Amino acid sequence: GDDTPETSYAVGFRAVPPQVGDQVRVPEGYTVDVLFSAGDAVLAGATGYAGPFLGAAEAEQVAGGNHDGMHYYELPGQDPNRRGLLAINHELPDFGILFPGGSYDAASATDEQKLIALSAVGVSVIEVEKDADGHWRVVADSPYNRRYTGNTVYRVSGPAAAVVGPTVVGTLNNCSSGPTPWGTYLTCEETTDNYLDPTQAPEGYGWVVEIDPYGELDGLPVKRTALGRFDHENTACLLGRDNHLAFYMGDDGTPGCIYKFVPRGRYDPGRRAANAMLLDEGTLYVARFNADGTGEWIELVQGRNGLVPGAVDPGNVTQGAQAPATIDFHSQADVLVHTKAAARVAGGTLMDRPEWITVGPDGRIYVTLTNNGGRQVTDAANPRPGNRHGHIIRWTEQDGSPLATRFEWEIFLLAGDPRLADEHLQGDIQGDTFSSPDGIRVDPQGRLWVQTDASTGSSITGTFGNNAMYCIDQATRVSRRFLVGPDGCEITGLAYTPDLKTFFVNIQHPTGAWPSNQPGQDPGLPPRSSTIVVQRSDGRPVGA
Ligand code: FEO
Ligand code: CA
Ligand code: CA
Ligand code: CA
Repeated sequence: GDDTPETSYAVGFRAVPPQVGDQVRVPEGYTVDVLFSAGDAVLAGATGYAGPFLGAAEAEQVAGGNHDGMHYYELPGQDPNRRGLLAINHELPDFGILFPGGSYDAASATDEQKLIALSAVGVSVIEVEKDADGHWRVVADSPYNRRYTGNTVYRVSGPAAAVVGPTVVGTLNNCSSGPTPWGTYLTCEETTDNYLDPTQAPEGYGWVVEIDPYGELDGLPVKRTALGRFDHENTACLLGRDNHLAFYMGDDGTPGCIYKFVPRGRYDPGRRAANAMLLDEGTLYVARFNADGTGEWIELVQGRNGLVPGAVDPGNVTQGAQAPATIDFHSQADVLVHTKAAARVAGGTLMDRPEWITVGPDGRIYVTLTNNGGRQVTDAANPRPGNRHGHIIRWTEQDGSPLATRFEWEIFLLAGDPRLADEHLQGDIQGDTFSSPDGIRVDPQGRLWVQTDASTGSSITGTFGNNAMYCIDQATRVSRRFLVGPDGCEITGLAYTPDLKTFFVNIQHPTGAWPSNQPGQDPGLPPRSSTIVVQRSDGRPVGA
């Protein structure tokens, strides 16, 4: 473990019980509004989905589906607690609002159907505002409102651009995301092929894509190949006292590794545009978790750590001995296009599906390992065979530095429930239990929030209720259930105003009557992924 002092942050809400059903449940004294649903208008002049299916041109102007990671940006000259920008990822289409019966087959889709499906992934940027009556709404005609989709053209930068090409059509499977200190948005592609249009070259996907929500910086959006190609979940930034920085990233593979990218340059707070090259030049590392609680960052640099022509990839050793494969790393582009293999060759630890990573204000870094039912060979950082419920690890960098090549780690909690019969499923959560942690973020006041993406089969919901959001005390590790989602959904995405009095949360892929059963919503429409707004009626910070 480490010796940084721990603080218990005040948590003042009464936990809600586990439940199923088609509503969002929050503690007494809190309110929920639906802000922004799949198909809602984004660009000025768009009408938005209202029942009939949209054509390709209209689909490009409205919200995509499966809202996931997001971030809130302040606007110059505006009260940031009442008006700002939201950048929101769309991981997948909400197929049910695009095609009859929700059916889409990439192999036989027409060109028009492909355009429509590809419109529904990517990013929405919307201006949002709190009305005098306290409700938030999308500013309908804002010049900031913008869509980045699977049909948009993206520039490619960094060492692998020579292989990928100067541009790629489409960003895809935009899972979670992260902000940069210079106010851009990093949207993460969680798949390394184009499942909506397999005719496109696969090397174009599986990257981190930088977007400027303000629309000011030249050369964006851009796929930043220096950060590697894998099933990217999110990014989390550690900014050092000297303005060196590191971006932590999980590969949500079964299994996958944990990475960090350290730019060669430093963040320049005074000149925004000067930071535009930071994500093109630097070093990509993979994490090795040693059994004694120490860890190492291993450079993924061609010519080092076994990354040479004829390298031997041991494969997925978590399922027993594999037939090793030979792979040639002739250049850094080879390392970046085949990052997963490079990480295995170099000795990175194969983790139980790393989802979000978050850096707390005290420098502690948390990662969710959501689950990995297929694990047969365990290690200290992934101690459960058939890890159905997942766990959370935290670490601190040596000297708290983003440049560190060593760290100290510990298992923060094992998810599951003490009532479960199988000892491997029991877990050690104190308080409100859960399965399959996914979203995680420490807010600026130090409260640790965890969101779940467990399968919604009855054996899971019978124990834990629907997917939910929890607040976990970092010191006592006591968990309290804060919000429960409607049937079929996962809870993901977390953004907030600077005063923490407004939280934005995403309800992804609900399957029942929600949100058409909510006040002000069209009762005739099918379920839609949506951004909701959580506030408390006494105007204090959420969670306090
Ligand atoms: Fe898109 Fe790994 O969650
Ligand atoms: Ca998802
Ligand atoms: Ca996720
Ligand atoms: Ca997940």
